[in-house]
Amino acid sequence: MNVLLTGGAGYIGTHCCVALSDKRYNCVLLDNFSNSNPQVLDSLERILGKSISCVEGDVREFELVKETLSRNQIHAVVHFAGLKAVGESVQQPLSYYSNNIEGALSLVRAMDSLDIRTLVFSSSATVYGEPRYLPMDEDHPVGPTNPYGRCKMHIEEMLRDIAISNSNWRIASLRYFNPVGAHESGLIGERPSGVPNNLVPYIAQVASGDRSELQIFGDDYPTRDGTGIRDYVHVVDVAQGHVAALDFLTRCPGFQVLNLGTVSGSSVLQVIKSFEKASSREIPYKIVERRSGDIAESFADSKKASRVLNWRATKTLDDMCKSAWKFQSNNQSAECSK
Ligand code: NAD
Ligand code: WQD
Repeated sequence: MNVLLTGGAGYIGTHCCVALSDKRYNCVLLDNFSNSNPQVLDSLERILGKSISCVEGDVREFELVKETLSRNQIHAVVHFAGLKAVGESVQQPLSYYSNNIEGALSLVRAMDSLDIRTLVFSSSATVYGEPRYLPMDEDHPVGPTNPYGRCKMHIEEMLRDIAISNSNWRIASLRYFNPVGAHESGLIGERPSGVPNNLVPYIAQVASGDRSELQIFGDDYPTRDGTGIRDYVHVVDVAQGHVAALDFLTRCPGFQVLNLGTVSGSSVLQVIKSFEKASSREIPYKIVERRSGDIAESFADSKKASRVLNWRATKTLDDMCKSAWKFQSNNQSAECSK
């Protein structure tokens, strides 16, 4: 089966490309490299031992997307392309509505025009907003608190509407919790540009000496040790979730929303401890004010993915930190702007 991965050169897209290729899917990537580097294609080719087909371009370019779908005889699409920084989305909402909403619209219009109707969409636990109960299942009300999350919510609504309008659509919207870690080869992983927004990439840069210390955003949350709790899920498990979703869609039409998480949360201090073990280095930190917009705790009820997709996360927090550290050590100081 030929699968188009929009945003396929990014962090989750590259891991998904490996997982799908291992299952004999033929992957074609489309990426504008706004948050990735074409050099990642060499790493992918080293892992896979074969060449990878990648089109450089923007998913908002309708004719380019249509031509890519048609020329490569694509059967299904996994849509990763988009911007993903919550804080930036508050500062630059138009960029987010353009890249994320226009991008999704352009893609589904192109798919619709060619009668290609199998789609896996990268959604996010961000759509839930402040948890009303934990763990959060897919029936938890949505209420995103920033433009990034609202884009994900609106795209999901659009996808639900088109699936209702034509029963040939087969769509899975995967709500990832906190994907971290890297491929076991250490060749691909998360490569944030500038100061990392997220916890694990920041810790990795402290461990490597690129940054002097971690700031822990608050230790007065009503959690077991006072620091924020999140559902960290290994990116390789997340990638396997896409393989399972595509497999499921070949059997079942319609629209499905599915959480991808581990069902257990870890605190910031637990992540630090695990990373110290993985790297055999101390992670200096200081406690600072809470980060605006943060919640105390978030973790998934992933029973639906287990029941419907036969998917469950298999890797531990230690596996996540070990692989993130391997990638960081292999790519020391790469593109790190202090
Ligand atoms: P990423 O930035 O590493 O990958 C996204 C890729 O899309 C990049 O290679 C970027 O160059 C490309 N891109 C962006 N806008 C584009 C456009 N208009 N046209 C073509 N290419 C474009 O991000 P990621 O972490 O791999 O995330 C992939 C998807 O998963 C995103 O949609 C993100 O919102 C979603 N997601 C990520 C996380 C996370 O924590 N990483 C959590 C939940 C959901
Ligand atoms: C995790 C914990 C912080 C950095 C974000 C997006 C979400 C999703 C995943 C895309 C929290 C604490 C962090 C630091 C810290 N992405 N922390 N010091 O906020 O759960 O989710 O990424 O969809 O949309 O919002 O992840 O990694 O930023 O934070 O103490 O330097 O680490 O307060 O408790 P978050 P994160």
